[in-house]
Amino acid sequence: MTYSLPKGTFDILPNQPEPWRCIEKWHHIERTIRMISHLYNYKEIRTPIFERTELFVRGVGSTSDIVSKEMYTFEDKGGRSMTLRPEGTASVIRAYIEKSLHMTPFQKLFYIGPFFRYDRPQAGRFRQFHQVGVEFFGEADPFADYEVITLALALYEALGLKHLKLMLNSVGTEHSRIPYRNALREFLLPHKDTLSEDSKQRLEKNPLRILDSKDPNDQKLLDGAPQMGDFLDEASRTHFEKLCSLLEQANVPFTVEPRLVRGLDYYNKTVFEIASDVLGAQNVLGGGGRYDGFLQQFNGPDIPGIGFATGIERILVTMEGQGAPFPRDRGPFIYLIPLGETAERISQKLLHDLRQTHIPADVHRGSKKVQKGLQTAELLGATYALVLGDNEIESKQASLKDVTKREEIPISLTSFIETLQPMWKQHAQL
Ligand code: HAM
Repeated sequence: MTYSLPKGTFDILPNQPEPWRCIEKWHHIERTIRMISHLYNYKEIRTPIFERTELFVRGVGSTSDIVSKEMYTFEDKGGRSMTLRPEGTASVIRAYIEKSLHMTPFQKLFYIGPFFRYDRPQAGRFRQFHQVGVEFFGEADPFADYEVITLALALYEALGLKHLKLMLNSVGTEHSRIPYRNALREFLLPHKDTLSEDSKQRLEKNPLRILDSKDPNDQKLLDGAPQMGDFLDEASRTHFEKLCSLLEQANVPFTVEPRLVRGLDYYNKTVFEIASDVLGAQNVLGGGGRYDGFLQQFNGPDIPGIGFATGIERILVTMEGQGAPFPRDRGPFIYLIPLGETAERISQKLLHDLRQTHIPADVHRGSKKVQKGLQTAELLGATYALVLGDNEIESKQASLKDVTKREEIPISLTSFIETLQPMWKQHAQL
C-alpha cells in the first residue's frame, strides 16, 4: 500500500516553488501577522483543534453549509461528539466566557492555525486550511468595526497586496431580520420552481442565504427583491452610517453590497468581506462582522463583539498572482564545502565555533565536487560558501563566495570567526 496525503490537504515544506506549500513564505506571513497584531494591541489566543460538536452547531448555526455539510465530526472513546474546528470565533467565545475574560473592560485577541471543512477541494479551497483571525470584545461603538476592518487592510498592505475590494453591509438585528426574511420569502415563493436546488431548500429554512447564491438565474431574480437596508432598525442604521463615515474620513474605499450576508449565522449589524482580483471563483480573501448579543446564547454576558478572519493560503496565492515581494529566504550564513578528510575535520571545528558565536552555518555532505557544493549552497539560500581544500588549509587563506552576487572575498582562516562576526551582525539587521 502506498500512503498519500488526504484529499484537500497539503504538506508545507522548505524551498517549494508554490508559495502556499513553502514554509519560508508561511514564516513571512506569520511574522507580519504578529507585527500587525502588536501594532493594534491584539494578544494571541490558542484554543484546541477540536471542541464539542454542539459549540459549532450553536455557534455557526445548524442551517449553515458549514454545520450541515462540512464538519469533521467524530465520537471520542467516551462517547462524546467532537468536531475539528471549522472556524475560530465559536472557540474564542467559549474560552472568553469560560475563563471570564470579560472581567477586563475589553479584550482584543488574535489566532493563527489550521481549520477543517469537508468541502469540494478546488483552487483556494482546502479541507485543512489556515486562518488568521481577530476578535474584539467589549466595544459596541462602530469605532471597533472600523479598527477591525483597518487592521485587516493593514495586514494585506504590509504583505504587498493591491487592488483589493472592501464590501460592506448591515444585516441588522435578529429582530429586524424577521420582517425582512418574510418579505424576501414572499417575493421568492412565486418563483420557487426557477430557483436553484440549493436555494429551493433555503427558501423555508434560511431565505437570507439565497442572497449569497452564485447561481446566475437566482442572482437575476434577486435584482427585483426587497433590500435589507429598507428593513433596518434605527440603531443598526445609525451604526452603519457612522461606520461608513469613519471609513470615508480615513479615505478607505468600500462599496455597500446590499446582498452581502455571509455564511455564518452569528452576525448582527456590520458584515464585510475583502476580495481579490486574482483568486477566481474563491475570490474572497477574508471576512467578518459584528455579533452583539451572541455571547448570551452560550450563557455568557451581554458583551458586544466583532471579528474577522482571512485564509492564509488565499493570501499566498494572491501574493503570487500579484507578484508581491517575499523577503529573501534565510538559509545558512556560511555554507562550508570541505574537499577531503582533513578539510572535513577542520570544517567540523569551524562549524562548532560558528554556531557557538550564533552565526547560522552548515556543512556540505555527499558529492565532493565544488560545483555540486556551490549549487547546494544556492538551493539552501546560503549567503556565503567557503570551499576548503588542501591549498586553503596549507595557506590558511580561503575565499568567501557570495552565493547570489558571485563575488569572492579573501578571508584568513586564523581570524575566521572574528572577521565573520561583524559581517553577520550587519546581515542580520537587513
Ligand atoms: P469565513 O468567511 O467562513 O469566516 O472564513 C474566513 C476566510 O477563511 C475566508 O475568507 C477564506 O479566506 C478562508 N477559508 C474559509 N474556508 C476555506 C477553505 N475551505 N479553504 C481555504 N480557505 C478557506 C469565518 O471563519 C469567521 N469565523 C470570521 C469571523 C471572525 N467573523 C467574526 N470573527
